[in-house]
Amino acid sequence: MQATWRLPNGQSITATVHPGQTLMEAAVAHNVPNVIGECGGSLSCATCHVVVDPAWATRAGPPSAFEDDMLDVTDADRQPTSRLSCQIKMTAALDGILLHIPG
Ligand code: FES
Repeated sequence: MQATWRLPNGQSITATVHPGQTLMEAAVAHNVPNVIGECGGSLSCATCHVVVDPAWATRAGPPSAFEDDMLDVTDADRQPTSRLSCQIKMTAALDGILLHIPG
C-alpha cells in the first residue's frame, strides 16, 4: 500500500506503508520533512500534523476528541481536514492516500 506526502514546496514523496503502520511511522521511516513524531505516537506532541487531502478525508475519518484538542496546539495552523498522522493506521481503504505537509 502507498501514501503520498505533498510538501509545501510542491514536491511529493510516495512511499510504501504497511497495513497497520501509522502514517507518522511511515513518514519518519521515509524521512518526510516536518513529520517528527516526537512522542512516538502517544498523542502528546502534535509534531505529526498533516492535512488530509479533502478527497480522502471521509475515508481517513475525523479526529478523536483528544486528538481534536491536540490539533489546536500544532505549529502550523490547523485546517478543516487536519489530522495527527500517528492516529491514522494504513488500511486497504487508505491505499493511495494523499497528505499535505503544512508549511
Ligand atoms: S507523534 Fe506525537 S502526537 Fe503524533
